[in-house]
Amino acid sequence: MMKKSVQDIINKQINAELYSAYLYLAMAAWCQGENLSGFAHWFKVQAKEETGHAMRFYKHLEDRGAEIKLAAIGAPPARWNSVLAAFAEAYKHEQKVTSMIYDMVDLATKEKDHATVSMLKWFVDEQVEEEAQTLDIVNKLKMAGESKGALMQIDHQLGKREG
Ligand SMILES: [Fe+2]
Ligand SMILES: [Fe+2]
Repeated sequence: MMKKSVQDIINKQINAELYSAYLYLAMAAWCQGENLSGFAHWFKVQAKEETGHAMRFYKHLEDRGAEIKLAAIGAPPARWNSVLAAFAEAYKHEQKVTSMIYDMVDLATKEKDHATVSMLKWFVDEQVEEEAQTLDIVNKLKMAGESKGALMQIDHQLGKREG
């Protein structure tokens, strides 16, 4: 039987992952409006991944016979001042999600919920990837600076992301 505190924090994380998907979809829509379809594609793929994360938590609750409680998803912002500003926010958001995952590991460990601790290991590793890939794009955009040519080059490259 899963402890209520663990069940609650996983339900909260389902919401956070779906908010992440919403945030990245909003960034995709904004990029598309700026005629940056490569960046838009990258964010759409990322949004799909976040939905996948939510479903991993959903399945864990399902497998453990725990209650699934879906709360309202907040509205994300709709506009950014630059692509760099959007990616800087995405990076900051991923850092926040990492700290949420760490809090979950701490709670599951305290509650001796080894199955949840084991499930969370995948997320600990995944967050290293998520932070690294977002930071990489932030750094590339900083290098591009005011160069439209460099921006278009990064747009082209990100447009090739699979998923
Ligand atoms: Fe995620
Ligand atoms: Fe993420």
